[in-house]
Amino acid sequence: MDPETRKATLSLGCWAFGGGYWLDQQRDDSIRTLHAALRGGIRHFDTAQGYGKGLSEQLVGQQLKRFSKEVPREEYCLATKLFLPNSPSDILASVQTSLRRMCTSYVDILYVHWPDSTKDCRPYLQALGRVRDQGLVKHIGVSNFTQPLLQQALDTTEISYCQIPLSLLWTRSLRNLAPLCTAHGLRIVAYSPLGLGLLGGRYRSREDLDAQDLRRGLFPFDTQYVETFHNLLHALERTALEYATDMATVALAWVLAQPVDIVLTGARTKDQLNANLRGKIIPLAGSHLVALRLIADNLDDLIPPDEDNVFFHRW
Ligand SMILES: NC(=O)c1ccc[n+]([C@@H]2O[C@H](COP(=O)([O-])OP(=O)(O)OC[C@H]3O[C@@H](n4cnc5c(N)ncnc54)[C@H](OP(=O)(O)O)[C@@H]3O)[C@@H](O)[C@H]2O)c1
Repeated sequence: MDPETRKATLSLGCWAFGGGYWLDQQRDDSIRTLHAALRGGIRHFDTAQGYGKGLSEQLVGQQLKRFSKEVPREEYCLATKLFLPNSPSDILASVQTSLRRMCTSYVDILYVHWPDSTKDCRPYLQALGRVRDQGLVKHIGVSNFTQPLLQQALDTTEISYCQIPLSLLWTRSLRNLAPLCTAHGLRIVAYSPLGLGLLGGRYRSREDLDAQDLRRGLFPFDTQYVETFHNLLHALERTALEYATDMATVALAWVLAQPVDIVLTGARTKDQLNANLRGKIIPLAGSHLVALRLIADNLDDLIPPDEDNVFFHRW
């Protein structure tokens, strides 16, 4: 698809519903958020085996099933992810576990969640291709892959989706991967559009987060980035004032204006979800998009070239 004609769809990321990384997540909030998403017209749900060791998959599957009269299975897209098991021969059982948890006979997208530096992905992708041939998975996706790994995956089997981090805090994955995705017709799925919440304006330093909150470890709080991070927050604040909205809405609207197909919002409550749905309709002016992009580029310039994901992490 021509990058200029792409129009991103807002979808629901369900990481928080597994708890774990998100310490204080309440089950009732997760359920209300999912229901608000369905009522608000969201039809794409992104979860993973790793989110709460299957808890998120379970909750998402149960709630979507509850809504099956209003929203039948064929009307929504269910995406999940797996880490590479010990052997490619374990892939089928791993997919079947997800299907059981989500009360469904197929998933629309099955991603390899992260590349594994100790394993060759190719036999796993071939095994996933066989699972797709059986109809248990409609499309295969890759997530957090670098450009060379994506090329290798494309040489191995048909890949339809590429999931990447994208926000004003992290723009390089899109720059690095978009040409290959466009050339091969992959749909680009952007995660963490609010930089895991850091762009909402409530967290300006580590101390603003609970002592147990793992977001304390994110790079923008490190000394070498903090000044540019604060410049970004000020720019978001100023822009939000101009549009009579809040910083999260502007940050999300910026990602929705990028050449991607799907944006996964990480709303954890019904109120956040409804606010983010409103964010869909704020059309940021070109001058604002560019001004914010310039600060994002300044931040990117500070990040070492070999870092390829927002967590500065490798499995
Ligand atoms: N493939 C991967 O490796 C990968 C990695 C990360 C995420 N993902 C996917 O992408 C989804 C979204 O990622 P994310 O959770 O990092 O998304 P995000 O939208 O960048 O961050 C979520 C956080 O933003 C804050 N937030 C949400 N709506 C808000 C609003 N209206 N106003 C103020 N703050 C708001 C909340 O922070 P508080 O907690 O402070 O309320 C929430 O926890 C995940 O659920 C998952 O499906 C995939």
